[in-house]
Amino acid sequence: MTDLLSHMDLERGMLSGGVFAERRLSDLRDAFADQRSIDRMLSGGEDPLVYTVSTVEHGSREGDQHIGLGVLYPGRVGREFFLTRGHRHKRPEASEVYVGLRGTGKMILQNTSGTSVINLLPQSTLFVPGHTDHRTVNTGGEPLVYLGIYPAWAGHDYASLVERGFTVVIVEDQGVPRVLDRSEFLKSLGANH
Ligand SMILES: [Fe+2]
Repeated sequence: MTDLLSHMDLERGMLSGGVFAERRLSDLRDAFADQRSIDRMLSGGEDPLVYTVSTVEHGSREGDQHIGLGVLYPGRVGREFFLTRGHRHKRPEASEVYVGLRGTGKMILQNTSGTSVINLLPQSTLFVPGHTDHRTVNTGGEPLVYLGIYPAWAGHDYASLVERGFTVVIVEDQGVPRVLDRSEFLKSLGANH
């Protein structure tokens, strides 16, 4: 056994020996609030790469750890910044540590205590407690690169979050990111379309 778990390639967003996954806009249809804008992009032939995850699974037993290197590209659907699908852990008590490496972004954390939005920046670490939905949003102009470190047994639960949804969206407003209540944002879209 070696002490070296993996090399990080921050340019390509790869962990050596990792499993690589890509998510395009068409994979994230349910994740954005502004359905009209996403439909317009997809029907116009736009299906950009939104994010990639490179995962190294270091064991699968109680006490083991997995690490994921995420690269979330800059871009928007309408006014909403590019985001990850978001999830809660299948074993919801599992917590996670995020480490910002490049770029400028935010994380949305949501649980029974409410919703919070925290900056995800290089050289910062964030703690995602158990029983908490978490989503990453790129609010800058370059790729947002970060590590997530979590128990091997955590798992990912995407399905229950599709029904629950996040209560806030992060949109561009006169050049700066703004956090808006999702239902208010949807109302404003209805008024503008
Ligand atoms: Fe997670």
